[in-house]
Amino acid sequence: MTQPRPRTATLTSTAEDVRADVASLLAQRVAGYKVFTLGKLQLQRDEYFVTVTWPAKGQLQSHTLSADAFLRALMRDVAWGFFYGTVNFDQVIGTRNLYGQVEFFCGRYNDAYHQNGLSYVEVFDTPAAMKRIKEILADWVNEGFDPFAAPVETGSAFGQKHGGNAKAIERYRVPTRRMPGIPGDSPLRSDEDGFPVNRAFADVSQDDPRIEAEPGFEGELHAFSLFKYLSRSDVTWNPSVTSVCKQSLFCPTTEEYILPIVHGNDRVEWFVQLSDEISWEIRDRETGRPRARVVMKPGDVAAMPADIRHQGFARKRSMLLVWENATPDLPRRYERGELKPWPIDF
Ligand code: PHB
Ligand code: FE
Repeated sequence: MTQPRPRTATLTSTAEDVRADVASLLAQRVAGYKVFTLGKLQLQRDEYFVTVTWPAKGQLQSHTLSADAFLRALMRDVAWGFFYGTVNFDQVIGTRNLYGQVEFFCGRYNDAYHQNGLSYVEVFDTPAAMKRIKEILADWVNEGFDPFAAPVETGSAFGQKHGGNAKAIERYRVPTRRMPGIPGDSPLRSDEDGFPVNRAFADVSQDDPRIEAEPGFEGELHAFSLFKYLSRSDVTWNPSVTSVCKQSLFCPTTEEYILPIVHGNDRVEWFVQLSDEISWEIRDRETGRPRARVVMKPGDVAAMPADIRHQGFARKRSMLLVWENATPDLPRRYERGELKPWPIDF
């Protein structure tokens, strides 16, 4: 049965016409899903797609993407607090972290839109934007769909609205202060705590390291098996901090299928491939023009420059160590040209 549809503005309406429509639009639902606004942006989902609408050149532009891809990307923005730099949901829409504020953009980092005056950017205070995107996620994620899970380990994102999945969407980055397993710090993972070994890592040793401290140093030495810890990750493409040394953060993660965002770096990031293989597509951060493809096999190390965007593809669940530099002020120093976008000259 077809549901009553909200009055949808066409491409020839002016932005003013649409604003007048917003109140009635918001009172209605499409396929059971609420329609949202964020500043002048309108966001609407149906059984298969999400459509984002923005004003440009006195008209409305719209962009449609698959609902599962949108929700996987939105989940990362929620859980990571907009992450470092740019989170492109696809080649058209996304967010840029201004640290305190956040920019939502449509076509801004897509040459065809931007060069033709069709791009749009709106800046929000971070808490207000975060509140709204959490509401969207809560309404648009159906029962059985986990936006952090690998596609073969979760149900479908599609169809008419049915239920919700509060447990899945309330996951945040594990807040480790120094290392998991230190008393008072984030926990290690075990069967008892609901973290069984993932099917892809059945061959990973579950032995713990033996700690032998010299007399007088008991309680000051800590170690855990990172392979064991990662073999029990229940999520994909979710770097979580496992060691903190001043501004140096080790953020390992397990990866399967496609990184749900195209990340635009605002600092250099180092990748160490710990197992299996990831193929990275690397483009210019500003324009999206292709730059390189990097295939990383176990033991490979790469420095991802500060002026690129990248997206990873993993055929089989793999382990990746992302090494982040959390030094404040880095984005500005790159922007001013004080630092080169690559870390080493050979
Ligand atoms: C990255 O963009 O650097 C990134 C993001 C998420 C991952 C891995 C790498 O899971
Ligand atoms: Fe990145």
